[in-house]
Amino acid sequence: MEFKQLKKITTHVLWEMKLRGEKITMLTAYDYTMAKILDKAGIDVILVGDSASNVMAGYDTTIPITLDAMIYHGAAVVRGTKRALVVVDMPFGTYQGNSLEALHSAIRIMKETGASAVKLEGGEEIKESVQRILSAGIPVMAHLGLTPQSIHKFGTYSVRAKDEKEAEKLISDAMLLDELGCFALVLEKVPATLAEKVTKMVRMPVIGIGAGNKVDGQVLVLHDMLGLTTEFSPRFLRRYHNLAEEITKSVIKYINDVKTGNFPNENEQY
Ligand code: KIV
Repeated sequence: MEFKQLKKITTHVLWEMKLRGEKITMLTAYDYTMAKILDKAGIDVILVGDSASNVMAGYDTTIPITLDAMIYHGAAVVRGTKRALVVVDMPFGTYQGNSLEALHSAIRIMKETGASAVKLEGGEEIKESVQRILSAGIPVMAHLGLTPQSIHKFGTYSVRAKDEKEAEKLISDAMLLDELGCFALVLEKVPATLAEKVTKMVRMPVIGIGAGNKVDGQVLVLHDMLGLTTEFSPRFLRRYHNLAEEITKSVIKYINDVKTGNFPNENEQY
């Protein structure tokens, strides 16, 4: 298979892509092997999402994952990546308390993973943390709309900013984060018309998940789009494979081969 051989993706390259109307592609990854496959396939951005809490660790929410765990996943992904921009999620509790703690957490991520940027959820409430991290020269990706770390405040994972008040707050948060100097914004599960409006208002690229097609790029959780997770089926999710089924078939075949003495055969021994 011919892999794309293109120049290293930087935050600057993403801005150029927005300016020329080229869509940005982003997927999550949490380990070396998957990162290597995504990178060779030509993905622009790999997000080491705190969705690792769900899909790797089996928790119900993104809240329990620790900074050490995110650093472990981030470093593995960076080792598997040559071209894509690697962004690591700052986990819950590492940046909301105070801006100095936020800076320390971000510095640990940058030093111990080798990633190029961090992602934080929220707007006005985390302004000081964003400013402080940016002032240390660390690129920040913002995240508005459905912010899973606030699940206990929202109560559900339903579409956000459907009413005027919440939409207005989202727009003003997006403008603020743009002015502060965030290099990109993830908009999760918001009406497509609102996402389009925000995309036109801000200079930074807007990467949507459940935010329609009139944004600058798209992101999905890798395990969802490959069909490794089966119980999660929101409307925005396009499944490109049914890997859970494929893996199950292979494992059943292996079990059968071993039980029947069919594996290993003469050519598979020394
Ligand atoms: O943690 C994550 O995977 C994310 C994406 C859903 C954007 O934040």
